[in-house]
Amino acid sequence: ATAPDLAGRHVVVSAGGTREPLDPVRYLGNRSSGKQGYALARAAAARGARVTLVEANTGLPDPAGVDVVHVGTAVQLREAVLKAVADADAVVMAAAVADFRPAVYAPGKIKKKGDDGAPVVELVRNPDILAELSADRALPGQVVVGFAAETDDVLANGREKLARKGCDLLVVNEVGERKTFGSEENEAVVLAADGAETPVPYGPKEALAETVWDLVLPRLRPTD
Ligand code: C5P
Repeated sequence: ATAPDLAGRHVVVSAGGTREPLDPVRYLGNRSSGKQGYALARAAAARGARVTLVEANTGLPDPAGVDVVHVGTAVQLREAVLKAVADADAVVMAAAVADFRPAVYAPGKIKKKGDDGAPVVELVRNPDILAELSADRALPGQVVVGFAAETDDVLANGREKLARKGCDLLVVNEVGERKTFGSEENEAVVLAADGAETPVPYGPKEALAETVWDLVLPRLRPTD
C-alpha cells in the first residue's frame, strides 16, 4: 500500500490543453492529452491528499476521489486555479496553456469571401498563470511546480525557464516521437530552484508523477 504521506494536504493539479475560440466552430489548441496531469492527480489522491484537478479539454473520465473542475480556455483555467489554490499546499501546472488567444471572438462563423484571400487572425497574450502563482503565493511556503516541453538545449532552456517563472520545481520534458504528447510514457529532468536536478528515466507517466510528489514532499511547509 502507498504511504499516506500527503494526508492532510490539499494539492491542485492542472491538466490538458486550453482551447482559444476563434468563432463558434473553431479554436486554437494544442496536443496535450492530459495523461500526465491525471497521473499526478491520481498519485496524490492515493498518497492521501485532497486533490483539485482543473481539467481542460482532455475528454478523460474524472478520477475517483478527486474534485474535478472543467474549463476550456486559458482565462477560465486561471480563474479556476486561482480559486483552488487559496488553501492549497502545492500546485502543479501540468496543463499546456495557450500563450496566445485570438484578439477578437467572431460571434458568427468566419466565412470565405470570393475565390482567394484569407483572414488575418490577430493574437493577444494570455496571462502566464505559473509565473503569477509563483510571484503571488496564496499561502506562504506554497510549493509551485511547472512543466516545460523543450525540443533542444533542454537543460539550459529549463534552467532559464525555472528562473524566469519563479517556481520551486520545473519538470522538463524533451518532446519526441514516443514521449510527452499523447503518449503513455515520459522522460524528464526535474529542476529545483535550490539547484537540485533529478533525472527521471523513460517510463510510465505514473512513475514521473510519484517522483514529482517525492520532490514536493520535503518542500511543503510544516503542518500545524
Ligand atoms: O512558457 P511555457 O509555456 O513553456 O511554460 C510551461 C509552463 O507554464 C507549464 O507549467 C504551463 O502550465 C505554464 N503556463 C502557464 N500559463 C501560460 C503558459 C504556460 O501557467 N500562459
